[in-house]
Amino acid sequence: MALRELLRAADVRGARRLHNVADARRAARRRLPSVVYDYVDGAADDELALWRNEAAFGSVTFRPKMGSGCVSASIASRVLGADVAVPVILAPCGLVRLLHRDGAAGVARAAASRGTVSVLSTVAGSSIEEVTSQTGARVWFQLYASGGIREAEMLCRRASECGVEVLVVTVDIPALGNRERDVRHGVTPPLRVDSHNAVALGVQVFTKPRWAAELAATGLRLARPSARSSGPGDSALQGRASPFSWDDIARLRAVWAGALVVKGVLSGEDGARAVDAGADAIVVSNHGGRQLDNAPATLHALPDVGAEVGGKVDVLVDGGIRRGAHVVAALALGARAVMIGRPYLYGLAAAGEPGVERVVDILASELRRCMVLLGCPSIEDLGPQWLEGLDAPVPGARRAWPSAPHGSTA
Ligand SMILES: Cc1cc2nc3c(=O)[nH]c(=O)nc-3n(C[C@H](O)[C@H](O)[C@H](O)COP(=O)(O)O)c2cc1C
Repeated sequence: MALRELLRAADVRGARRLHNVADARRAARRRLPSVVYDYVDGAADDELALWRNEAAFGSVTFRPKMGSGCVSASIASRVLGADVAVPVILAPCGLVRLLHRDGAAGVARAAASRGTVSVLSTVAGSSIEEVTSQTGARVWFQLYASGGIREAEMLCRRASECGVEVLVVTVDIPALGNRERDVRHGVTPPLRVDSHNAVALGVQVFTKPRWAAELAATGLRLARPSARSSGPGDSALQGRASPFSWDDIARLRAVWAGALVVKGVLSGEDGARAVDAGADAIVVSNHGGRQLDNAPATLHALPDVGAEVGGKVDVLVDGGIRRGAHVVAALALGARAVMIGRPYLYGLAAAGEPGVERVVDILASELRRCMVLLGCPSIEDLGPQWLEGLDAPVPGARRAWPSAPHGSTA
């Protein structure tokens, strides 16, 4: 058997061993050098926003209806007018190629095989051309403007030429968040290796020979946004901030013919501004707690945004979703769909493309079971009537989430 087939068979077996997102996280931790694991798992400053995102779901109390006769639940939905088999979209994430040789193309294929979609980050490590031509999968493209609005417009043109129909503009990175785990590894801006950190990183890589050998055997190429050398998006890869004004969004709206999504909104007021600037959908997001610490939990910010713009555009939410029940809570509070970041990254690190598929399958099956236990037959029927409230105490015993706050890597 060729090396690639052997590796693939090992990943399929590895994926079968994952029974929840926490399993995927543990497997990722075992498999990755700590500098890479911390890049994924970490967040800004004291990691409070990450902790809050996760903890918010622990404060949800459902209001089930017994005797409804509901024994199965339909989880198919429509986002931006397109069908999805499961309302879970794979959020844009940078440097995914570092986690597993399958990289962004594997993520796109996994999403497509589960009837959903992935969002390719400007800094994913694979170009739009590569991912769309290699996979033939429907992908959305996420835009940073680290090189200015002209570079952003150039990236839009390339995405459009590749048949991308949905552009996701991330607005919550006017400065880079202070990700102290990365700082301690000596690798900010994003995971740069230089003479100061090379020895320490070399030792880490040495302790994960399988990870290193697989990447080396399949061609280690971390991040290149363009098929051409030094192409648009390189400034984002250099870890530069991406400041967008609402005028910039309006300008992009004028050149982008497809659907435009604004990601990183945390208030009804900003939701309204985004819609005024031409957004077709909003993602309530605090960048997985990687930007402004002390930002609100996204689940708590969702109702305000939904009340302001929910009747006009699709509202999505991400941050802290680790269980199917969390998807139910988000949809009951008005989200059309959710995005996940770390859960699929853990799956990718643990078992490549099959690991990503497995994480989506786990969330889909948990989502279905949770709806049946509630007595709710369909996504369309979810609403606030299924919630008792959001302020019950976070359960303490034997929980995998939330992660420990205060920058702990425990
Ligand atoms: C390792 C990593 C890299 C990320 N890179 C990007 C990015 O390039 N563009 C972006 O808009 N968001 C990025 N995000 C944020 C995600 O899109 C998403 O908002 C966040 O991960 C959701 O929270 P969760 O990880 O708790 O699910 C990244 C998140 C992680 C964990």
